[in-house]
Amino acid sequence: MALLEKSFSKFASYYDVIYQRYDYDQECDFLINMFQRYYEGKAEGILDLGCGTGSHDVILAKKGFKVVGIDSSTTMIELSREKARNSGFEIEFTVQDMRELQLTNGFDCAICMFGSLGYVLSDEDLKSLFKGLRNVIKPNGLFLFEFWNVDGLKPAPYRSWDKREKEDIRVYRFSESNYDANEGVLDIRFAFVVLEQERLIDEFEELHRIRVYSLNEMKSILKDEGFDVLHMLVGYAGKEEPIEDTFRVFAIAKLIGQ
Ligand SMILES: C[S@@+](CC[C@H](N)C(=O)[O-])C[C@H]1O[C@@H](n2cnc3c(N)ncnc32)[C@H](O)[C@@H]1O
Repeated sequence: MALLEKSFSKFASYYDVIYQRYDYDQECDFLINMFQRYYEGKAEGILDLGCGTGSHDVILAKKGFKVVGIDSSTTMIELSREKARNSGFEIEFTVQDMRELQLTNGFDCAICMFGSLGYVLSDEDLKSLFKGLRNVIKPNGLFLFEFWNVDGLKPAPYRSWDKREKEDIRVYRFSESNYDANEGVLDIRFAFVVLEQERLIDEFEELHRIRVYSLNEMKSILKDEGFDVLHMLVGYAGKEEPIEDTFRVFAIAKLIGQ
């Protein structure tokens, strides 16, 4: 087995195979609904932090939004640009670390979907992210994001596996998650096996370290960073259900205007 790779260094290339059934259209409809419900005015400029392969961004651009996507992975950004080119829509994608945003201001809303925020591990880095965000979104702008809830964790070690196929490629992904309570970090170890027409073409492991939060902890961070928490609900499905022990939480916060 290969050495343990940095998160997404190789997984990025197979991301859209693994998540091909993920309903990005439904999720974008939900996002647009939230922009309309909570943004005062018409939301137009959207910044996507940790955009991955740009799936949300292409759909949002098709629906008329002006989108900028950033991601720290070069492969993810290359795949996003290719997706944008194929769609015929103009979207700016840049390799950038969300902890050190280098953008001009003026976004109505920022999104950070599917747990991208969790990859920011230290308090210091989180502070730096929020500082950047305050500079680039408009006063009263929204931050819509997902985070993983510590009270929704499954007992460790939690093991699962997936098999996904696209054209001639078949990807097997095995995972084991363990929670490190001292650091408040969920360690997910992924092992991938990739076949092309039954021939082994790739085999690697990645460690994904993801910070998890309690609902109260996240509320208090947002407040300290100058945001009003408008709503927290079940992530992905966007259901108005109790979220206390939901693993995936969707949060909507508003930058308090200066
Ligand atoms: C689980 S993927 C989510 C991608 C996308 N938002 C989606 O919904 O499919 C997490 C993404 O966050 C990116 N990421 C992790 N840490 C980052 C950082 N510090 N700055 C920017 N992107 C980061 C990863 O490269 C990866 O593309």
